[in-house]
Amino acid sequence: MSKKIGVLTGGGDCPGLNQVIRAVVKTAITKYNYEVIGFRDGYRGLVENDYLPLDLNAVSGIISRGGTILGSSNRDNPFHYKVNVNGEIQYRDLSDQAIENVKALGIEALVIIGGDGTLSSGRDFAKKGLQVVGVPKTIDNDLDVTDTTFGFMTAVNTATDALDKLHTTAESHHRIMLLEVMGRYAGWIALYSGIAGGADVILIPEIPYQIDKVAQKIISRKKAGKHFSIVVVAEGAKPEGGSMHVQKVIADSPDPIRLGGIGQQVAEQLEAATGMESRVTVLGHLQRGGQPSAFDRILSTRYGVAAVDLIAKGEYGMMVSLQGAEIKAVPIEQAVGKIKTVDPYGELVQVARNVGVEFGN
Ligand code: F6P
Repeated sequence: MSKKIGVLTGGGDCPGLNQVIRAVVKTAITKYNYEVIGFRDGYRGLVENDYLPLDLNAVSGIISRGGTILGSSNRDNPFHYKVNVNGEIQYRDLSDQAIENVKALGIEALVIIGGDGTLSSGRDFAKKGLQVVGVPKTIDNDLDVTDTTFGFMTAVNTATDALDKLHTTAESHHRIMLLEVMGRYAGWIALYSGIAGGADVILIPEIPYQIDKVAQKIISRKKAGKHFSIVVVAEGAKPEGGSMHVQKVIADSPDPIRLGGIGQQVAEQLEAATGMESRVTVLGHLQRGGQPSAFDRILSTRYGVAAVDLIAKGEYGMMVSLQGAEIKAVPIEQAVGKIKTVDPYGELVQVARNVGVEFGN
């Protein structure tokens, strides 16, 4: 074997992780004759030297599986790592320990599959001399310099399927049915699934809403003989002059804020304003689970192959990215630290408005 490479999956799990791992292992072994080591549970495995060899057998039969065979974590930040010192919780920079582990294993380069938090640490490892390449993952689709992250389209499909199902009860019971979807500070999942699922109202963080405008839309639909309405609420949606609904704070996570609960608030306000029964469904982690769509399996495979090709060319500190129809390489530095949000004046919002969707502004 000419070279040994490592791979890890960090951050929240996401449909398509296994397909990237599979493509990395297959390309590394069959195209380049490399050896592959997988680290367990993201950066925890790197810091604590917890790894397993990945051969072709290890990735056999995982093309349709959700989740990650390596495990993941959206807590363990190697530069701010939680340690228990005689019963007291402290945070330490254990990045040097992680680098020592990589060196001791003879690993020349590391494929880091993750979102903003994971790739930010990847960038910091690159600054310390570790040879890394990044693969952009997140159902939120909020990473910059890539058109699409893998996992996003599967989450959109799941949310669209939920909207199709909610239509049934909405029509039968003449109700307002609300669907709260994930996406953190970006409204991509809400916008895409709202258009695909025929929502009447879409509330996203990028367009703060006025509840009166939303209620007016629902009342005018009722007057026109439509005795139900479908509302998609992004977890980061907020009223004009208001703030996002924080559900919990997880101290040792690179992004400690967990959003949630805005759907219930909007449902209660709409019920009071329209007199129509309202119900909310929080889709939650169903959006992150299950089999990846064909689109995501293909994108993940393209990303995995391209990541190993970058290693073969010695192009480190780079992230693979989808730009139009092509897979390109961009510096990880350019992708992290800022998020890609929906343009409130962009074509997709305009398309939604043109087919009658209300955004509440
Ligand atoms: O970033 C992916 C994501 O699923 C967000 O959409 C959501 O806000 C968050 O992670 C939930 O994180 P956790 O799994 O820690 O609850």
